[in-house]
Amino acid sequence: MQEQDFHYTRARDLLARAEELVSADTVQAAVRNVAEVLNNRFDSDATGEFPLVLGVMGGAVVFTGHLLPQLSFPLEFDYIHVTRYGDQDRGGDVVWKVIPRQNVAGRTIIVVDDILDEGETLAHVKQRLLDMGAAEVILAVFADKELGKRKPVQADIVGLTIPNKFVVGFGMDAHGYWRNLPGLWVIKDDDKQVDDAPPAV
Ligand code: IMP
Ligand code: MG
Repeated sequence: MQEQDFHYTRARDLLARAEELVSADTVQAAVRNVAEVLNNRFDSDATGEFPLVLGVMGGAVVFTGHLLPQLSFPLEFDYIHVTRYGDQDRGGDVVWKVIPRQNVAGRTIIVVDDILDEGETLAHVKQRLLDMGAAEVILAVFADKELGKRKPVQADIVGLTIPNKFVVGFGMDAHGYWRNLPGLWVIKDDDKQVDDAPPAV
């Protein structure tokens, strides 16, 4: 119970100090735009393509859940799980937890992710899919963080461009908190640090 109290209080405090960056309505409009771009390309009998949509867990789970029902063409869905951050909100090596399982050779793959930050994660994902023989890899991200420098990979479809701040909401978390918010909130710099551990039980 002590540990639950710790997380409850820390999550509440973090949000109390955070500032809203993007409203829930704007988030939904961004998802609709991404869907429209994909539908324009794939919802036509002329292409006859049957793309494989791969959600990148866990951050993309909310975006993917909102996006999929707005796509109006035949597709296959699966997920991959790759993380670069582990439990720390800073860069690190890319770690695969679930690799692509479906047959990707010769397919058009739509990779759906929450946010393009440094771009290391999606650069790695795209390269792996191409190495597996994907015909084309389309990167669709909910948010692209403006870093003011070139990234190792560009997103093909972007929902929103956001400033270089650490955000929570719409699938994105800090210390596991607030993936469930319907909008985006910028957390305080101090709240990015992983400081005190929960009390021992
Ligand atoms: P990249 O390799 O730096 O592009 O890392 C991208 C991944 O880092 C995203 O898929 C998120 O899981 C995580 N990430 C990057 N920026 C944020 C943020 O502002 N809030 C929450 N997660 C983030
Ligand atoms: Mg992620």
